[in-house]
Amino acid sequence: MYKQIKATAASGRARPQALALFVTKDAAVPPPGTRSLDRAFAGQLSRVMQRPEFDAGTGQCTTIYPANGEAPAERLVLVGIGPREAISTRGVCLAAAALARHLAAAKLTNVRVEFGEALTAAMTPAHLGACLAHGMTSAVFTFDRFQGAAGRENRKALPTLTVRVPSTAHDAAAAGLIAGTAANHARELAATPPNVATPPFLVTHCRQVARKVGLSCKVIDAKRAARLGMGGLLAVGQGGSKPPCMIVLEWEGAKGKPRRATGASSRTQGQADPILLVGKAITFDTGGYSLKVGGTMKGMKYDKCGGTAVIGIMEAIAQLGVSQRVVALIACAENMIDTNAFRVDDIITLCNGVTVEVTNTDAEGRLVLADALAYGTRMYRPKAVFDLATLTGGVVVALGNHMAGAWCTDDALWHRVEKAAAMTGERAWRMPLDQSYRDMMKASHADLHNSAPVRAAHPIQGAAFLSHFVGEQAPRQMPTIPWCHLDIAGTATSDESNALHDKGPTGYGVRLLAELIRRW
Ligand code: BES
Ligand code: MN
Ligand code: ZN
Repeated sequence: MYKQIKATAASGRARPQALALFVTKDAAVPPPGTRSLDRAFAGQLSRVMQRPEFDAGTGQCTTIYPANGEAPAERLVLVGIGPREAISTRGVCLAAAALARHLAAAKLTNVRVEFGEALTAAMTPAHLGACLAHGMTSAVFTFDRFQGAAGRENRKALPTLTVRVPSTAHDAAAAGLIAGTAANHARELAATPPNVATPPFLVTHCRQVARKVGLSCKVIDAKRAARLGMGGLLAVGQGGSKPPCMIVLEWEGAKGKPRRATGASSRTQGQADPILLVGKAITFDTGGYSLKVGGTMKGMKYDKCGGTAVIGIMEAIAQLGVSQRVVALIACAENMIDTNAFRVDDIITLCNGVTVEVTNTDAEGRLVLADALAYGTRMYRPKAVFDLATLTGGVVVALGNHMAGAWCTDDALWHRVEKAAAMTGERAWRMPLDQSYRDMMKASHADLHNSAPVRAAHPIQGAAFLSHFVGEQAPRQMPTIPWCHLDIAGTATSDESNALHDKGPTGYGVRLLAELIRRW
């Protein structure tokens, strides 16, 4: 597979190894606007499309070799996109992914892309560039770091694939490649096994990323967390083989861009109100003493995917040079069984003074997130807050792998999420949250319990619990601060392989939020 993909604007005259043309299933022959191309390929385009076996289903690639050396490319690749009336973001991403796999199989290193009349009529050039980048980067992800002596023969990595795109799509494609590459780094980190990817490993990783892209990286270690009263983070991590911690990544906003000064907090004097990102990074979730049984523990290395996505988002926005100031908190802990592990019936105090009776040690994500949300909203006075977490199995039951569950306190913020979702194809479905759900989380011997005795509305219980920790007026009122909780338990991984991704981590959230923040 390719190590890297680069976009260039289609102006050069150099003859590419391949010219890729997207065609719909019901296209005229030759498709509108391709008469001269058809002529350049001596009518082959028309002849091939008229063959009974020709298939323009989504992602079907057909190669045409010119009979002479005059043609504008060494080969023409027709990339199927399905019926015209069913064109979608996901469809274009899938077709682009299939194209990347097709080019890799032929060991090609450069391609010129023509979106064709149907796609150009259906979507803006920026949208097409984003989809192309999304599909291609997603398809080239492989995780072979742990292939050992008995593993598959080493597949030779191809160097760089250079993709020439129409100039109107270039900037969006370049931005999409940055986000897609960061998403692949997030997938790599997510797939790293739990005996390697411990909380201290995530710290080392974040320091490296920060140095490389120009973020600041600070770490609240367990000792500091204790002084700050982060009883949730510490309780969850106290049975782990390595201590828990909170990683703080910060992007100041691109220099030279105007910044709005606020006097709201002495700590943020002279700095703009940031966007706050919070990620759940449980490096392994055994369930603790509320043990995961019956095979449900398998794959719980992926319980850090909220955190790995947040790291990927920070990497992307730094490389994109976004103007916004962004602060990220990654709550890292291992949820294990140990003589020191926290128990059911424990009562703990979180950093905003709220007490929690632990009714289920497997509802650990909300405990580490609650400390991060309470600390982050007080410390940084953000103008918007996002948290990403593989929080509940219930959201997988409700929405499957196709959409994340979303809870959002602000319609304008939700509108931004919907726009970024439409651009990237990383989708989310908004769910309800009000006082009646918040009341479900009230306990008799403490302010809250981390899991209600009933399984009803499980994913909403998680959101309702978190709502007691967001913003200055928490826990008394529903948060008024624009806050969006994304439960990515279903979307963070895929259990089927398709052109876009093999089984395993998807990097969900990196593209969505990199796009959202880029457009802020
Ligand atoms: N990490 C899990 C959620 C999860 C389940 C993610 C399946 C991915 C796939 C989370 O910590 C958890 O165990 N949630 C419990 C909550 C319950 C005990 C309140 C759940 O969903 O069952
Ligand atoms: Mn759990
Ligand atoms: Zn978990």
